[in-house]
Amino acid sequence: MSSYPRITIEAASRHEGEAVELAGWLYNLRRSGKIIFPLVRDGTGIMQCVAVKNNISEKCFNDLRDLTQESSLIVRGRVRAEPRAPGGYELDVDDAEIVHRIPEEQPYPITLKEHGIEFLFDHRHLHLRSRRPHAILRIRHEIIRAIRDYFDSNGFTLVDTPIFTPAACEGTTTLFEVDYFGDEKVYLTQSGQLYNEATAMAFGKTYCFGPTFRAEKSKTRRHLTEFWMVEPEMAYATLEDVKRVAEELICFIVGRVLERRRRELETLERDIARLEAVKPPFPRISYDEAVAILQRKGSEIQWGGDFGGTDETLLSEEFDRPVMVDRFPAEIKAFYFQPDEQRPEVVLGVDVLASEGYGEIVGGGQRIHDYDLLLRRIREHNLPQEAFEWYLDLRRYGTVPHAGFGMGVERTVAWICGLDHIRETIAFPRMLYRTRP
Ligand code: 4AD
Ligand code: MG
Repeated sequence: MSSYPRITIEAASRHEGEAVELAGWLYNLRRSGKIIFPLVRDGTGIMQCVAVKNNISEKCFNDLRDLTQESSLIVRGRVRAEPRAPGGYELDVDDAEIVHRIPEEQPYPITLKEHGIEFLFDHRHLHLRSRRPHAILRIRHEIIRAIRDYFDSNGFTLVDTPIFTPAACEGTTTLFEVDYFGDEKVYLTQSGQLYNEATAMAFGKTYCFGPTFRAEKSKTRRHLTEFWMVEPEMAYATLEDVKRVAEELICFIVGRVLERRRRELETLERDIARLEAVKPPFPRISYDEAVAILQRKGSEIQWGGDFGGTDETLLSEEFDRPVMVDRFPAEIKAFYFQPDEQRPEVVLGVDVLASEGYGEIVGGGQRIHDYDLLLRRIREHNLPQEAFEWYLDLRRYGTVPHAGFGMGVERTVAWICGLDHIRETIAFPRMLYRTRP
């Protein structure tokens, strides 16, 4: 049967009228007398096939007739345009080869009926085959590709940073400690930022992109213990540069998803108009203004307090696109933030809150470049100075104002896909109560 070239379902439109082969799995099957309609998925899409008893061998008809869900098979036939079919095409079957038939006594656990969320995540290794996770993870890939394209074509050099680290970047309460051959204490990285500051002094504009870890004890819709973060860092840069780059990046990503992953957005029933509204300029407000808005909307927040998840939601509901909040109290921010010269009690940091109540997707700002001030902050935060000596070196040798940020991939995916919970944004989520499968 070598005359049937193998194609992907996604590419079916380029093969109308041709005899082709699909290799995949049985998503679902309908029967109507002498016709069988196997729905085949191949990882790129789902296609309805039409197997007519009189046109195929008896063996083929019998093989297909009671084929079980998720059995693997190769089907051969001719591509036909069918405007009523979901992907616009159907396959008229000539022949089929069953690669693995799942026995009736041990059926595929995830049926097309509703299942509880815990059940689905216990079977996540299989759940990924279903329509919804498939659409989400394809959008995730598009977002990651857009992030890389943006930085790669804007003069940033990718320099990845270590995962075993001797020092805390984002506070000592969310560190995962690792036993490193018994003697030395190391932690899983919370952020590549400190190392980015070194690479920015070597390359000018850099970024790292990898997994990061937070021992978050809170069980929320927005927190994972392992998540992916992209972190650009720029030498000779300020808070304003961070805002400009973050805004450009976010618009670029949303534009790409709208352009290339519309079908997946439709599968998720995403309100596309809300994404189309994501255009520059984003509103820019100060922390002071944010507190005033929140108090007006009934939040308990006082000046000096950190935003809770509910505050972030209340704030972002005020705007039709992401909002940038800057100049937070130094007290609630990490040790490395550069103070505002005019008002030293606030720092040159910015958070970007996604629209539609999704909360913070980007955090960053300008770093302290003065040696004495940085040393003072390290001491005030009770951080072990010797672990930061190399970081202080960056201020001893040719220090310059510099700035950068981190964008959480999963928070961004949750927002763009319009998901209620962050667990759906990654293939195998790691959370307070989940480390399996
Ligand atoms: O605001 P964060 O903690 O900032 C940093 O780590 C900086 N050092 C980054 C930098 O300036 N280079 O985290 C940045 C982003 C957040 O805005 C959020 O999108 C995401 O990382 N994030 C999480 N995502 C999922 N689960 C968690 N537990 C997260 N914590 C932070
Ligand atoms: Mg933050």
